[in-house]
Amino acid sequence: MTAAGVVAAFAGLVVFIRARKNSYPVKVVARVDDLPVGGVKIISYPNDEHPCFLLHPSDGTFLAFSRLCTHASCPIFYRPEEHVFACPCHGGVFSAVDGSVLGGPPRKPLPRVILEVHGQDLTAVGMTQKD
Ligand code: FES
Repeated sequence: MTAAGVVAAFAGLVVFIRARKNSYPVKVVARVDDLPVGGVKIISYPNDEHPCFLLHPSDGTFLAFSRLCTHASCPIFYRPEEHVFACPCHGGVFSAVDGSVLGGPPRKPLPRVILEVHGQDLTAVGMTQKD
């Protein structure tokens, strides 16, 4: 094998490893009919050990975020009246619109679940960042 061939093979291996590392399962997490506008549901994604909030804030809009605080992994709670997620451990507060940090010690936003709607199925296909 030539030097160029070795470089090409190595580059291909790096791309393959990155693709595997960033792969997430495709999983139906709810049905559209299960969640009326204003509804909230706890789902699991990308595995059963990782709880997430699924929100239906307006007609046709579904949002999902990790339920684990990015500071020290405490479970957060949804405060619908303020449209935020609050962490009871050290007072972290996150936006329920985009998962951004609004207060407290967390430095990183909540990972967001990437959703697709296929008919009546709400399907999770990935996350915006690893936890
Ligand atoms: S674990 Fe949530 S603010 Fe510390």
